[in-house]
Amino acid sequence: MTPPVRPKLLLTGGALAALLVAAAPAVAGNGGFAPVPPESPNAQDITDTWWFISIFILAIFVLVEGLLIAFVIRYRRRRPRDVDGPQIHGSTRLETMWTVAPVFILFAIAAVVFLKLPGIRDVPSATAGGETLEVEVVGHQFYWEFEYPNGVVAVNRLRAPVGVPVELTVTAPDIDVIHSWWIPALGGKIDAIPGVVNETWFQAKRTGVFRGQCAELCGIQHAVMLAEVEVLPAAEFDAWLAEQETAQADGTSELGEETYAGACATCHGLDGQGGVAASAPRLAGSALVGDPDAVEEIVRNGRGQMPAVGAGWSERQMNAVNDYLEETFTRGG
Ligand code: CUA
Repeated sequence: MTPPVRPKLLLTGGALAALLVAAAPAVAGNGGFAPVPPESPNAQDITDTWWFISIFILAIFVLVEGLLIAFVIRYRRRRPRDVDGPQIHGSTRLETMWTVAPVFILFAIAAVVFLKLPGIRDVPSATAGGETLEVEVVGHQFYWEFEYPNGVVAVNRLRAPVGVPVELTVTAPDIDVIHSWWIPALGGKIDAIPGVVNETWFQAKRTGVFRGQCAELCGIQHAVMLAEVEVLPAAEFDAWLAEQETAQADGTSELGEETYAGACATCHGLDGQGGVAASAPRLAGSALVGDPDAVEEIVRNGRGQMPAVGAGWSERQMNAVNDYLEETFTRGG
């Protein structure tokens, strides 16, 4: 019988074709294997580094697989198939080449990484206008909370002015677990660790909404622990921040609704229907919802599977949530 050499070639050809097809989505940017288009200088440096390393990865892959396939075809054993090939050893030139080349490649990669690192890590010193914004980012099971210098609090959506360096101090409450802050278009990941304050930053090149996701497995609703950064024109941002300061102070803000949507709805559902995560009970129509003290007790201390989502809420945030719960889920909610 003739050995089945042709089917193997066909298989190899098929695999190569599949590879070519896979190459298109691989470089397709958003949604592919490539990083999303960077919108901040630190994200730009990360993306540049990624592409630089990828060039070597791709070149080595093509070289190794190409040689493998070429050798399989060129040197395949014809009949008789039960005789050993010639025993060859030693090629000083080849061996020197494949030792020295990787050394140079690793050196080049290390050099580029060390060159790019300061641009990724260090917050740029203030812009020409001397303006920077500092925001505290706190990771909770299962939402992000932001606090601005004037005391304004926001949940899951961080608003920021365009072109201004935004310094983020990232942490988590002592009773919580580790999360990871990550908005790919605006820079790398940084862990939110209980009791530790990490720092990162971004300086958005344009206005728009940039989406991210908690990047550290933090519990049952980790997958829906999303985050957004909305970059606004500077004047619009200033107006929003001032307006929030007043509204949150006199209790007319939407902080209650925002906190409910970010902190409560993740498990209890936007309509308070319950059961979104594990055994989260229904809130709509629940007797407890009309009892602010009982709500505060559970929200601050947690109960059973429910984390203490509101352990760090200020009195006014707690009141805002209670008002929202009452309005929405008791009075004909
Ligand atoms: Cu928080 Cu995953």
